[in-house]
Amino acid sequence: MQLFLDTTDTAVLKDLAATGLVDGVTTNPTLIARSGRNMLEVIAEICGIVGGPVSAEVASMETAGMLAEGRKLAAIAPNIVVKVPLTRDGLIATREFAAEGIQTNVTLCFSASQALLAAKAGASYISPFIGRLDDVGAAGMDLIAEIRAIYDNYDFDTEILAASIRSPAHVAQAAMAGADCATIPPDVFAALFKHPLTERGLQQFMADWKATGQSIL
Ligand code: G3P
Repeated sequence: MQLFLDTTDTAVLKDLAATGLVDGVTTNPTLIARSGRNMLEVIAEICGIVGGPVSAEVASMETAGMLAEGRKLAAIAPNIVVKVPLTRDGLIATREFAAEGIQTNVTLCFSASQALLAAKAGASYISPFIGRLDDVGAAGMDLIAEIRAIYDNYDFDTEILAASIRSPAHVAQAAMAGADCATIPPDVFAALFKHPLTERGLQQFMADWKATGQSIL
């Protein structure tokens, strides 16, 4: 499973990328706005920090504008993935990007039927938003399993990128449901390392080791 960070915070990205466990990055207009930075500059900086896929989202709502913006974004770096909303215009643009060899991440997916259309349009990635479905009382994780079944039935190449992740449990559940990737907020990514029993067990190991008075070196 590929693990992406859902962030534009380059300081936090550098820190977590140092673990060697960050496979890519996703951004969206809200994260760009929150950064307070120029979009093209922060995306270029992110592409220099991680070698894996970096999703940068178009802002236009109609196909022609999406194509113009996406081509400009794709020119920033070879690892750019153009993020496109799951709309009629977005899927028309996705088909054209696929024909041009530009990687795409179709975002704001909330149903299996939407995901089916995105795969047929040649999307490189599909981003089903688990947390936002949970927020409205739906079973977000069920959508991952549904998309997995459909994509396997028809051997679609589109990769399932579990998004709107709210907890380490979401990451594990998405992996069990067969997602290819998960894009994770930095605080949730940092929480993946931790478990209270690990902390407690380590403290006991270190106390017992110290009592031996030994040194390995
Ligand atoms: O960036 C895509 C997605 O992960 C954002 O989800 O619900 O955290 O805004 P959310």
